[in-house]
Amino acid sequence: MPEQIVIIGAGQAGVQAVQSLRAEGYTGAITMIGDEAYPPYQRPPLSKAYLLGSFARERLFLKPDAFYREAGCELILNTVVTAINRAAKKVTLGDGRTLSYDKLLLATGTRVRKLSCPGAELAGVHYLRDIADVDGLQNVFKAGTRIAIVGGGYIGLEVAAVGAKRGLDVTVFETADRLMARAVSKPVSTFFAEEHAAAGVKLNLNTSVEAFEGKEKIEGVRAGGIVHPADLVLVGIGVVPNDMLARESGLACQDGVIVDQNAMTADPSVFAAGDCTRHVGREGVEIRLECVQNAIDQAKHAALAMLGRPKTYSEVPWFWSDQYDLKLQIAGLARPTDQLVLRGDPKARKFAVFHLRDGAVAAVEAVNAAPEYLTGRKMIADHIKVLPEKLADLSIPMKQIAQG
Ligand code: APR
Repeated sequence: MPEQIVIIGAGQAGVQAVQSLRAEGYTGAITMIGDEAYPPYQRPPLSKAYLLGSFARERLFLKPDAFYREAGCELILNTVVTAINRAAKKVTLGDGRTLSYDKLLLATGTRVRKLSCPGAELAGVHYLRDIADVDGLQNVFKAGTRIAIVGGGYIGLEVAAVGAKRGLDVTVFETADRLMARAVSKPVSTFFAEEHAAAGVKLNLNTSVEAFEGKEKIEGVRAGGIVHPADLVLVGIGVVPNDMLARESGLACQDGVIVDQNAMTADPSVFAAGDCTRHVGREGVEIRLECVQNAIDQAKHAALAMLGRPKTYSEVPWFWSDQYDLKLQIAGLARPTDQLVLRGDPKARKFAVFHLRDGAVAAVEAVNAAPEYLTGRKMIADHIKVLPEKLADLSIPMKQIAQG
């Protein structure tokens, strides 16, 4: 049984590890170190309800302060970890302190990918990853403001939806030929493009931003040789894993800290969980997942493995996004070669796209279609085969389809 567990990163994976370690009977010390000013909080609402102003800051926090006291978890905030010494089993903090560990969990998450075009440092260019980012954006996120959004992925489109709702003049610039191409199939991209256009959002696909123009403050975005006037820019072009500490300590990293199916690195004293990791997923393919589900499940597995009770991690990944009154829910990992089956009508703003692989459901994307999402997720986990005609037939309820 370890006696000292140190968790680097005070986010979703970190807090889950604390909870699981105690639930599994661990009685030793736990220290969690975070570089932000806040205890662990939910990030998904930041670009949605929190930006809209309909979600109080207190509701973001994953646990009340009492949780950490009662769990005997020392929470060190506003502090960076600067080094890991694996030979000595110690971590060094930014203030010079060192902490010893028997087991170490890296739950360091990701940071935003920065745009490096001319003008990228101008005032008025924002990113969105943490509470402070949204609080900074709120001050200038006002009706009538012209906002240029770079990136038509989750963050860009969620901000576009909130912006349109709050009366901003919204323009999106996306390099790919469709929206959310990393995450969704073409029919779903097309559907969301139509919804954004109907809400007044101007979409520029196949468009690279060449420069931000302005003297001290942003005045326009140069793309395709044209300067689009803008008062404000929000960049959402993806995230990169915080794997530098692991890398510098000699652990294998490749766009994420490499872990096995027990969330363990090649060093049996060091584990990693959440967005910062790369693991071999349930389909046997190496993957780095960016989702709450993976943070929670991997942290649970890390806790078990730290306590000597490893359990193979093979959960079905799931993701969601809220844009306007549309709830997009995705389970499983699609491949370009999957057979797509549409169930329902996008015009009704309630439909699902199933991905069949070798006759079985491999992924589902559901829009305002919770039964399709929930049943689909279960069918993926159980490798249920189903005929495409049956799946597309709305007269057959999902409960029956679940039988295959
Ligand atoms: N100019 C314009 N668009 C770009 C550029 C660029 N230079 N570089 C990348 N893009 C586009 C990509 O084609 C993609 O559509 O930006 C989009 C980024 O989308 P995501 O990968 O979904 O990343 P983001 O929206 O930043 O979200 C990051 O935050 O919501 C969470 O966990 C969620 O993984 C997500 C993360």
